[in-house]
Amino acid sequence: MRKPLVAGNWKMHGDAGFIEAYAGALRRAGRAKDVDFLLFPPACYLDRLVAAVADTGVEVGAQNAHWASDGAFTGEIAPGMVRELGAGWVLAGHSERRALFGDTDERVADKVVAALEANLQPILCVGESLAEREAGSAEAVVARQFGVVAERIGREGLARLSVAYEPVWAIGTGRTASPAQAQAMHAYLRSLIEVRSGSVARDLRILYGGSVTPENAPALFAEPDIDGVLVGGASLVVERLLAIVRAAEAVGAHRN
Ligand code: PGA
Repeated sequence: MRKPLVAGNWKMHGDAGFIEAYAGALRRAGRAKDVDFLLFPPACYLDRLVAAVADTGVEVGAQNAHWASDGAFTGEIAPGMVRELGAGWVLAGHSERRALFGDTDERVADKVVAALEANLQPILCVGESLAEREAGSAEAVVARQFGVVAERIGREGLARLSVAYEPVWAIGTGRTASPAQAQAMHAYLRSLIEVRSGSVARDLRILYGGSVTPENAPALFAEPDIDGVLVGGASLVVERLLAIVRAAEAVGAHRN
């Protein structure tokens, strides 16, 4: 059974006051029921957020971590450092990292390998651009992005991975993939995993990301292969992210 997962990616937003208010609202809301609830703050706030949400059941992850465990990499953060700050998760290959910071498929695979070695749970982000979708190559792009990582980590690594399908044209644009479009890609991804690693596909969670809101989340969760969501903009308003968690709780209860 795949437990629903809701992850908020704050990107480069937030400060100490924001974290305090956010954590206060989480405490008042109480623990999520049968939903994994994660937050990805800027790296400099990881330990502060870990401490602030300690009694809420919310887990914390980094938006990015380097592929090496240490070394001369000015400005970078190693996965072991993330772990030491109390975080348990890390994103790899977010489209903003790929587009703006030169994260190639190979580098993303290096980062997933390093994250697993540091005992972090990686969420691999994949997704096509608008031009790629219009050219009919969306599946090929996603298969390539996923395949490079899967090749490196094998069945054992896949068993510890989650995947987020985030079409680039839907991120921060207010234009979500329709539930049917997202479901089609999720089912395709699951079939790729099944070919490689059989039963791992049954348990591997595939999240959808790209302009998820409390309004569109229920229809996305209703699709059988959408196991969770990665939320950017809407996660900056705690009540909106909590409303998405409520939608996940409803479907989780239904699926069990
Ligand atoms: P968005 O971002 O929800 O603002 O579209 C999603 C993401 O980048 O993970």
